[in-house]
Amino acid sequence: MYRYDAYDQRLVDERVAQFRDQTRRYLAGQLSEDEFRPLRLQNGLYIQRHAPMLRIAVPYGLLSSRQLRKLADITRRYDRGYGHFSTRQNLQLNWPKLEDVPDILAELASVEMHAIQTSGNCIRNITTDEFAGVTPDEVVDPRPIAEILRQWSTFHPEFALLPRKFKIAVNGNHEDRAVVRVHDIGLEFLRNEAGEVGVKVWAGGGLGRTPIIGEVVSEWIDWQHVITYCEAILRVYNRHGRRDNSYKARIKILVKALGIEEFRRQVEAEFAHTKGGAMTLTQAELDRVAAHFTPHPYATLPETDASFEAARAADPAFAAWTKRCVHPHRVPGYRAVTLSLKPTGIAPGDATAEQMEIVANLADEHSFGELRISHEQNLILADVPLAKLHEVWKTARAAGLATPNIGLLTDIICCPGGDFCSLANAKSIPIAQSIQERFDNLDYLFDLGEIELNISGCMNSCGHHHVGHIGILGVDKDGSEWYQISLGGSQGNDTRLAQVIGRSFAAGDVADVIEKIIGVFVEQREGDERFIDVVRRIGLDPFKHRVYGTPAKKEAAHV
Ligand code: HEM
Ligand code: SF4
Repeated sequence: MYRYDAYDQRLVDERVAQFRDQTRRYLAGQLSEDEFRPLRLQNGLYIQRHAPMLRIAVPYGLLSSRQLRKLADITRRYDRGYGHFSTRQNLQLNWPKLEDVPDILAELASVEMHAIQTSGNCIRNITTDEFAGVTPDEVVDPRPIAEILRQWSTFHPEFALLPRKFKIAVNGNHEDRAVVRVHDIGLEFLRNEAGEVGVKVWAGGGLGRTPIIGEVVSEWIDWQHVITYCEAILRVYNRHGRRDNSYKARIKILVKALGIEEFRRQVEAEFAHTKGGAMTLTQAELDRVAAHFTPHPYATLPETDASFEAARAADPAFAAWTKRCVHPHRVPGYRAVTLSLKPTGIAPGDATAEQMEIVANLADEHSFGELRISHEQNLILADVPLAKLHEVWKTARAAGLATPNIGLLTDIICCPGGDFCSLANAKSIPIAQSIQERFDNLDYLFDLGEIELNISGCMNSCGHHHVGHIGILGVDKDGSEWYQISLGGSQGNDTRLAQVIGRSFAAGDVADVIEKIIGVFVEQREGDERFIDVVRRIGLDPFKHRVYGTPAKKEAAHV
C-alpha cells in the first residue's frame, strides 16, 4: 500500500503542530468560537451531541494492520474503546476530548494518517471499491489513481473553499461497488479495444436533501488527463456553484440548473485551456505510485483446497459464512473475506479496540498485513488463502465478526443518527437494532436472499437511504421522531432512487412495517427472485396496501 514520502509526512506533521497551537489558543480564550470553528473543521473535528466527533481519513478505505492497531490504541486511550466505520470509508470517534485532539492527530501522523479535509467545503476522502486490486473481473486497479487524486486534492489551494463539500469516487471494475453515480464526480476506469486506459466521468450525483443520480460528462478521457479534467469540472463548479444558498450549493444542483449539455460545454471549454499542460499525468508518475500497489507475494496455490472443503462439509455454520462473507479472488487459491460489523445489538459499523486488534492480527497472519473498509461499513481481509479460511472464521466468530449476513437484510447501512449527530431528526441505531432483532433467524435471512436496507437519521442521507432496496429516513414531526419508508432504490451499475411509500411511522412500528413488506415479497416472489426485482416487477402498490390497508391512503401527516 502507499507509504508516505518525506513531503507527505512533513505536511501532516506541520498540520499537527499548527492545530496544537490553535487548540491551545482556543482553550486559553485567545481564539473565539467563530475563529476556532473553521480551524477545527479543517482537521475533521465536529462538535456533536455529547462530545467532539473526530473523523479520521482512510484514503480509499485501505489500512495497514499497523494503522488499525494504532486506531485501536487511540480509541482505548482517548475515547471509549470503540470507533465507527462510516459509509465514506472513514473512521469516526464519538467521544474524544477537545484538549486531547492534537495528541490524537500526532498519534495518527506517526502511522501516516490524519483527519485533514474530512470536513469542510473541500475535496473529501477519495473512495473506491473495497475489492480493488483483487476482484477477478477488474478492468483497472483504481488505487494508484485514487492515491494520485488524494495527493492532488490534499491542500489544493484553489479548491479549499468550494461552494460546498466535494466527494470523488473511483471505480475500476465492471460492477460499480463505489457508487460513483451518487458522487459529485464519479470516475469509472475503462479499457478500450486497444487496451488503453481511459476514464468515464460522471458528475452531479449526490444524496442528501435533493438526491440526484449523476450524469455522464465524458464517455472517455485518456487517463493522463484525469486531473486536468477534474480541475475543469471543479472550476466550473467553483465559479457558478450557489454560494448564496447552502441547500443549493452542491454541484448536482448546478448540473441540473445548467443542463448536462451546457455543463459539459463549459467543462470542455475550461479543459481546453489546461489539456496537455503541467498537470497532465505521465506514465512515470503513474508507475511511481502504482509501485506501492504491486501485487502481494502470493503463493502458487491450487484452485481448491481439501482442508477447506472438508471443513465446509463438516460445519454448516462455516459453510453459511463462506456463502455470504467469502468472495472470489483473481489469484487461484485466495479469497477476499468480509468481516461483518453488523451483529444484532451493535450499532452498524462500530468496532471495539479489541476487535480492531484481532482484525489487525488476522491481517498480519493471513492477508499481507492489510485490510479495507467498505462503504457498507464492514471490514475486508482481501487476500486470505483458502486453507486459512476456517482459522480466520473461528477467530472472527469468537470476536463477533463473523455474522454471515453480508448482503442480507440485517447488513444494514446506518448513520449514527440522534444518538450522536446533532443534525439528526431521529435516532437510527435503535431502528436498525429493532429490525435486526426481528429478523434474527439466519436461515430465514438466507431464504430471503439479497436485501439492502439503509437508514439515515435525517435528510442529509449519511446512511444512503435513497439507494437502499428499503430506505428508512428519520423525520421530525412536532418535535417527535417518525420514520419514512421508501422502496426500490439500488446502488451499483443500476443505481436508482427509492420511492417513498406513504406517511411515516413511529419508531415502535418500523419493524412491523418491514415485516409486512417482507411478507409481500415472500408471497409474490417467483423462485429465487431478489427482493429488488420483485419490487420492480410488481410496483409499490401491493406493499402500500399491506402496510396501510386497502386502498392505500394518500400521503398524510407526519411526512
Ligand atoms: C455525526 C456527525 C455527522 C455530521 C454532522 C454529518 C453531516 C452531514 C451533512 C450536513 C450532510 C449533508 C450534506 C449535503 O447537504 O449534501 C451529510 C451527508 C453525508 N454524510 Fe454525514 N454527517 C455526520 C456523520 C456521518 C456518518 C457517520 C457518515 C457515514 C456513516 C456520513 C456520511 C455521509 C454521506 C455518505 C453523506 C451523503 C450525502 C451526499 O451524497 O450528498 N456522515 N453529512
Ligand atoms: S443522516 Fe443526518 S442524522 Fe445521520 S449522521 Fe447524517 S447528518 Fe447525522
